[in-house]
Amino acid sequence: MTGRFITFEGIDGAGKSTHIASLTERLQKQGEVVSTREPGGTELAEILRDLFLHRAMDDLTETLLVFAGRRDHLRTVIEPALRSGKTVLCDRFADASFAYQGGGRGMNLEVLGTLERWVLEGRQPDLTLWFDLPAAQAAARRAAARDADRFEQQDLEFFERVRGGYAARAAAAPQRFARIDASQSVAEVAAQIEAVMKARGW
Ligand code: TYD
Repeated sequence: MTGRFITFEGIDGAGKSTHIASLTERLQKQGEVVSTREPGGTELAEILRDLFLHRAMDDLTETLLVFAGRRDHLRTVIEPALRSGKTVLCDRFADASFAYQGGGRGMNLEVLGTLERWVLEGRQPDLTLWFDLPAAQAAARRAAARDADRFEQQDLEFFERVRGGYAARAAAAPQRFARIDASQSVAEVAAQIEAVMKARGW
């Protein structure tokens, strides 16, 4: 039996991390869970992540780097885990490239679509939890939390474009996407996630 593939998406500061940890714990009661992330998730992809987050480069180089890491991650971690029936939880996946490189940077969506087909070979998440909130609110949360990487230094307009990128992906795949109102409290967001899981019998 193939395992479930669940991804978590949203702009920086949406508050995914807390909920990934608690959902991992909840699903571990049902079977084996692999909790992973992008960019990264393998030794090679973590090296690429470091370059991706901290070196200056043009938008296409950035896009190719993140898809190269994704290819390695998919082949060596995600696909084997799903084949052996494990549940895979992934903090960001291909939708992030459509949102950040497509929406945020303005990369050509056809180029991204081609890369997606080559790299994913048809694999898509079974469920994508999209943590959505206004860019200004996310920025306020980030300011309280940590040092900014190359993406987190972008302005509010950039993050509103990223948000628009996610909205477009969600509209194109409404069965796969569940929009979570991430402007609410931790408890309320957890309740929304629980409702989504229950609705799927998970
Ligand atoms: P993330 O792991 O969420 O950062 P943090 O460790 O601070 O929680 O993601 C790192 C950044 O990479 C984030 O700003 C989004 C960006 N990103 C892309 O631009 N494209 C992608 O395809 C992915 C997966 C991430």
